[in-house]
Amino acid sequence: MLKFIGLVGTNSKQSTNRKLLQYMQKHFAQKAEIELIEIKDLPLFNKPADKQVPLEVLEIAEKIEAADGVIIGTPEYDHSIPAVLMSALAWLSYGIYPMLNKPVMITGASYGTLGSSRAQLQLRQILDSPELKATVMPGSEFLLSHSLQAFNQDGDLIDLDTIQKLDALFDDFRLFVKITEKLSSAQELLHKEAENFDWESL
Ligand SMILES: Cc1cc2nc3c(=O)[nH]c(=O)nc-3n(C[C@H](O)[C@H](O)[C@H](O)COP(=O)(O)O)c2cc1C
Repeated sequence: MLKFIGLVGTNSKQSTNRKLLQYMQKHFAQKAEIELIEIKDLPLFNKPADKQVPLEVLEIAEKIEAADGVIIGTPEYDHSIPAVLMSALAWLSYGIYPMLNKPVMITGASYGTLGSSRAQLQLRQILDSPELKATVMPGSEFLLSHSLQAFNQDGDLIDLDTIQKLDALFDDFRLFVKITEKLSSAQELLHKEAENFDWESL
């Protein structure tokens, strides 16, 4: 069975983005195993002089490396991804490369109408940076708007059209993972490029 990591892109205790990932974990249990990972307790990225990445980040990196893909759930603050997610991604690209060529599906929930569309766009751009270089599923935004009203008491999505869209996108993501496996010609080269890349060597 496919194994995915669901990265909860927030440090908020009450998060509809976390709820969405929890729903996906339950709803897609027959199609994939989704392990949710929290980043809320990671230290803020601080570019340590000894280049030592915290143990808890290394543990997350290991899980990502072993997974078939990553689903990132992001809220939107001031048209951006939350600082805590930005920080986690900086750690995950600091001399380690767990995201390289990793298939990624992006989801986002917001209280308003636009459902984190701008944060999702920004996240795509970040994930394309030289030391992250994830393979993000194209043309596939899953935006959950009015997220406070979107779930019932059991944590299930209420709106059938929304569920249908999520089902379709998740099926596409499973296929995308298989297609991405075949895109292997340049993989070794890209890995070397990322390893040799250094923002700080002048
Ligand atoms: C400081 C701040 C800025 C926000 N900016 C946006 C925004 O730019 N776009 C948006 O759709 N929602 C915005 N929101 C509302 C969020 O969608 C909502 O608070 C929530 O974070 C949704 O995710 P969550 O339930 O996972 O926390 C903002 C909320 C805060 C507290």
